[in-house]
Amino acid sequence: MGAIGVFDSGVGGLSVLREIRRELPGESLLYVADSAHAPYGDKPAAFVIERSHALADFLIQQGATSLVVACNTATAVAIDALRATHTVPIIGVEPAVKPAVEQTRAGVVGVLTTSRTAMSARFSKLLVRYGGATRIAVQPCPGWVELVERGDLDGREVEGRVREYVQPLLDQGADVLVLGCTHYSF
Ligand code: DGL
Repeated sequence: MGAIGVFDSGVGGLSVLREIRRELPGESLLYVADSAHAPYGDKPAAFVIERSHALADFLIQQGATSLVVACNTATAVAIDALRATHTVPIIGVEPAVKPAVEQTRAGVVGVLTTSRTAMSARFSKLLVRYGGATRIAVQPCPGWVELVERGDLDGREVEGRVREYVQPLLDQGADVLVLGCTHYSF
């Protein structure tokens, strides 16, 4: 049986891989971290599409019979192009706006995401589709992916960098925050 191929711009997708492993312990999994080209979120869409094609081709060559794009940014800009090119099932990840809107009591949701995701048409459509009457405050977080790639996950500097992007959302009244990038759960 073929493997499930999983990719991300770096180590962020390991947060997705962990869940796949938990749900499907019997499956063979292949993972590519494109850390040499991270972060995707600050790069042009064409670059992210090109890298996504290269990684998808590689994983399929290695025996993947389905693909998981474990990256919100690559899903936002490249999944349509990937699906148009490959016949294997391709599953993406998108910021969890729908459950956040269901959970908010204040009527304000904050979404932490990469700049590229925030600018994408796919993300705009997601907000229109699930936002309803909820106010959605979107906060791009340049620099966070680099911290995670370096393995800087705690300490004063990291806390300061986290506060820098979270505080404006709290100030706007958000009572639910969406981690709209697979690196951010680390
Ligand atoms: N893990 C990617 C995501 O979910 C990070 C993107 C980046 O490399 O900037 O969007």
